[in-house]
Amino acid sequence: MSLFRKKSVEHMLAGARNAGLKKALGALDLTFLGVGAIIGTGIFVLTGTGAVQAGPALMISFLVAAVACGFAALAYAEFASTIPVAGSIYTYSYATLGELAAWIIGWDLMLEYGLATSAVSVGWSGYLQSLLAGFGISLPVALTAAPGAVPGVATLFNLPAFLVMMAITTLLSIGVRESTRINNVMVAIKVTVVLLVIGVGVFHVTPANWHPFMPNGWNGVFGAAAVMFFAFIGFDSVSSAAEEVRDPKRDLPIGIIASLGVCAVLYVAVAAVVTGIVPSAQFANISHPVSYALQVAGQKWVAGFIDLGAVLGMLTVILVMGYGQTRVIFAMSRDGLLPAALSKVHPKFATPFLTTWIVGIFFGLIGALVPLNVLAELINIGTLAAFSMVSVAVLVLRRTHPELPRAFRCPGVPVVPVLAVASCLFLMINLQAITWIAFVVWLVIGMVIYFGYSRKRSKLNH
Ligand code: ALA
Repeated sequence: MSLFRKKSVEHMLAGARNAGLKKALGALDLTFLGVGAIIGTGIFVLTGTGAVQAGPALMISFLVAAVACGFAALAYAEFASTIPVAGSIYTYSYATLGELAAWIIGWDLMLEYGLATSAVSVGWSGYLQSLLAGFGISLPVALTAAPGAVPGVATLFNLPAFLVMMAITTLLSIGVRESTRINNVMVAIKVTVVLLVIGVGVFHVTPANWHPFMPNGWNGVFGAAAVMFFAFIGFDSVSSAAEEVRDPKRDLPIGIIASLGVCAVLYVAVAAVVTGIVPSAQFANISHPVSYALQVAGQKWVAGFIDLGAVLGMLTVILVMGYGQTRVIFAMSRDGLLPAALSKVHPKFATPFLTTWIVGIFFGLIGALVPLNVLAELINIGTLAAFSMVSVAVLVLRRTHPELPRAFRCPGVPVVPVLAVASCLFLMINLQAITWIAFVVWLVIGMVIYFGYSRKRSKLNH
């Protein structure tokens, strides 16, 4: 039964009341928060992969992924706001579902956040190189990408990706967090860049490029949707802010739906424009597909601005994901499930300094050595699995803990959570077999650590 032992809900609620976070956020703030965390490597880089897979029907892939995210986000928001302690869903699941489920969710989140920093650093590297190329600067080929990332080219190590991770790790380790003001600036930059792509690109579209619309049929469309799900990751940051929202019942769903909606509209338009400028198959192995399309259109200056905007905008995605990663590990270590050294706080910087550097170097090396497509699929499967579990948990908690105060209640229960599970599973099924194998291996490693170490060291033993 110890697998289902729980932290006390009352204890956590008391903790949350004491935390006394200011309730200052409204629907618009939440939308900005969401868009800031969402727009990144997905739209700027994976659009190329998606276009090869789905063709111009990539537009539909984006819509499919957005709808799945919408359901998942509503369920997630209820879960995140039921026990509004600052922290991730790992903490909430510990109190409600028990230790084993919390461990699995925490282990999944580590995969999500950690690999997401690696993936975005790879995307960043592609755009930095495109930007530098505009000034006639190029790196030695061996240092531009992970081994095997570009077929037929002998690449060894993605140096820019590694260096940007070290830079962000330095910031995180000394306690730099993203402020609302920086987020707003970044949102402005990213949205401007995306609008520039659409506004300029639309005049260079050759509608003939939209035929065939679905070169690989629905398989291609759904396969691409499963990959492009990555482009929407980050909407969970809206739900996680539940505790600081003025009127969560109203503002939370608006913030979630608005940020997903804004991004979905922008993404579909970008997909339409870039596949209209360049025949989709040509995007194979292009690491900066969005600015590439504008280069092909002869808009060198605009392409340069896109490179610059992407390079700046992606930095905050790495920062936010890296922060999430270290805090999940911190919480798991504090609960005794991971070694105590991982929740040591630096006396001067008041950050989990050691953890920050360990994961920074580890995921920095992964970004330097593993191709982006592999990373994106792994992140998606971990995230989709976590969201499915959370959606099931919402249904379970309505039965087992009906009395808990919920700052936000998911509409249309049980239909919406069920649709959330179904759409997450559907996207998971559309990922490659190799991704499933890697995910199962990851879970097995997690189980070995849990049963070999964490269960005995858990603070709940005392
Ligand atoms: N949605 C984020 C991105 O595309 C993770 O970079």
